[in-house]
Amino acid sequence: SVKSPITYTPQDIKIIKKVLNGYVGFANLPKQWHRKSVRRGFTFNIMAIGESGLGKATLINTLFNREIVNHRDDEETVEEDTEDKEGGVAVKIRSTKAEIEEDGVKLKVSVITAPGFGESINNTDYWKPIVDEINSRFDSYLEAECKINRSTIVDDRIHAFLYFIEPTGHSLRALDIAMMKLVHEKVNLIPIIAKSDTLTDDEIVEFKQRILADIAHQGIKIFTPEAPGDDDEETVSNTQSIIDTFPFAVVGSTKEVQTPDGRTVRGRQYPWGVIEVDNEAHNDFVKLRQLLIRNFLEELKEHTANVLYENYRTEKLKKMGIEQDSTVFREFDPLAKQQEERALHEAKLAKMEAEMKSVFQQKVSEKEKKLQRSEADLFARHKEMKDKLTKQIKILEEKKVQLEKQRSLPQEPMVQPAQQKTRKGFLR
Ligand code: GTP
Repeated sequence: SVKSPITYTPQDIKIIKKVLNGYVGFANLPKQWHRKSVRRGFTFNIMAIGESGLGKATLINTLFNREIVNHRDDEETVEEDTEDKEGGVAVKIRSTKAEIEEDGVKLKVSVITAPGFGESINNTDYWKPIVDEINSRFDSYLEAECKINRSTIVDDRIHAFLYFIEPTGHSLRALDIAMMKLVHEKVNLIPIIAKSDTLTDDEIVEFKQRILADIAHQGIKIFTPEAPGDDDEETVSNTQSIIDTFPFAVVGSTKEVQTPDGRTVRGRQYPWGVIEVDNEAHNDFVKLRQLLIRNFLEELKEHTANVLYENYRTEKLKKMGIEQDSTVFREFDPLAKQQEERALHEAKLAKMEAEMKSVFQQKVSEKEKKLQRSEADLFARHKEMKDKLTKQIKILEEKKVQLEKQRSLPQEPMVQPAQQKTRKGFLR
């Protein structure tokens, strides 16, 4: 028998409210996580791409307030520019690592640059080393993830891609658009207007608008931090003000200068005054640092791992899977193998049959020719005989006519031979 479902009336439901006063200790979880993270240290990999002299090294060093990246001109061993196959300057990839510490927290920073980028006009493959580098870092991670021991995976994936736009004041160039389009789905793209102190405030406003319009028109995705509604008001408004600043118009400088009012600041000194790096009224450096380091470093890493890398991984495995499936199908599927063998066998039989048919036809035609020849022979012989016989008949007929002619002539007394006389005389 099927029991009818039990139904409750509101009166039946008793809500038991308990006051939990025994401290369990899970409030300690953030502290545990914090200790572990601090012990392990943090990693952050930044790719800084843009033409030579746009202030990439300066900006990175300004961001971390340390000389992390050497300026190319200062390097002791200045590398010779290698030529690519078209005679242009070859783009190289250079990675600089630094371990920095602040209040006991370790950060391993890796800065990846591409010297030679945009330096040659006839270089059509300028983007390749950069895209290859991003992919190969994803590949190494994927490989490490597939190993049995995954506890020691080093995250070399690019967490932030700073693209330096030349402060022309016009709009994005074809090279900028092409480069950003090639990477925007693989990295957290952060466009930056380099050396913005070379533009006036009005020029910057217009330039930003044009860049954003181009980016939207081209469907280029740029990293946008999330400001969930349940976050506190300050965080939400701060995040929104970062987004409103896109693309960051920055000034970099690790040098300290004196302001007219006597302050010592990081900035650039001009005859007409000082541009302060850390002054939000002067440029967007502070906002960029908030996005990259102070507020969203973890989000940049999470987005890399959960969205960008996941997409790459899915695509890669899908591609590998399809190839694998087809080989597995061919090699191990017994039904497919049987069908393949049968098809081969049938093809072999068909070939043999065709060969036999052609041999047979050849033989038949030979026999036919032979028969035709002997028939003609027989015919000829038959004709010959017939002719011979007709001739004989003719001769005989002529003889017959002659004989009959002779018989119809009057009989002349014939001279009796001696024997007959004797016989006659004897008879008498
Ligand atoms: P490469 O290594 O050749 O690719 O150059 P880079 O992009 O790393 O440029 P780097 O930081 O070496 O700076 C090149 C020059 O630009 C230096 O003389 C810097 O002092 C100057 N520079 C850097 N940042 C700024 C800036 O924000 N404004 C101005 N006006 N000059 C800057």
